[in-house]
Amino acid sequence: MVTSGLPRHCVPRNDGVELGIIMTEVIIATEGDIPRILEIEHEAFSPPWTHGALLAEIYNEDSFFALAVLQGEVVGFCILRRMADEGELLQIAVDPMYRRRGLADKLVIAALDWAKAQGLHSVFLEVRVSATPAAALYEKHGFESMGQRKDYYTDPTEDAVLMRKGLVARG
Ligand SMILES: CC(C)(COP(=O)(O)OP(=O)(O)OC[C@H]1O[C@@H](n2cnc3c(N)ncnc32)[C@H](O)[C@@H]1OP(=O)(O)O)[C@@H](O)C(=O)NCCC(=O)NCCS
Repeated sequence: MVTSGLPRHCVPRNDGVELGIIMTEVIIATEGDIPRILEIEHEAFSPPWTHGALLAEIYNEDSFFALAVLQGEVVGFCILRRMADEGELLQIAVDPMYRRRGLADKLVIAALDWAKAQGLHSVFLEVRVSATPAAALYEKHGFESMGQRKDYYTDPTEDAVLMRKGLVARG
């Protein structure tokens, strides 16, 4: 995980209304967050990633591994990995109880901000053809379909849609 210049609270946010009821933020994941991430992972993905795979991303200097936190509880996460001058959005998921509240929007924005700050030229991803909420999320953030990969996924076997977004690097 890249930590230089990135505090744990990488994108501080307080969306609290005046009564201070709703607080969301996007922060960098640490090893201690893995058990909660695994819970969300198992709800969202088949086959899910393992503890070891998530741990490797947390300590991968080329990975941006962020959490969405709602009132102190981890409710979502995303992983974007740098590969040369491109990024791959490897995973994004939100706890089913907390979907449709804009949390994935915040995670995608944070990941794309990181990718731009790293000077990446584009971000690509694969998504199951049946994952229409995810495809809508990606389209909303400017990703375009580049074609399909046949039988890319297992458990169940399914084609992937390959999507890509070009970036204007920052800094
Ligand atoms: C995809 C996912 C991460 C979206 O999380 P979320 O926090 O509910 O998304 P948000 O509330 O931030 O919505 C952002 C945008 O995503 C799209 N979207 C999200 N859920 C949607 C749904 N059920 N139907 C259609 N569009 C949807 C919309 O474009 C939405 O923007 P809008 O509110 O302006 O319409 C969540 O549904 C999830 O975890 N799915 C399972 C895992 C998965 O498929 N991950 C992607 C593959 S790697």
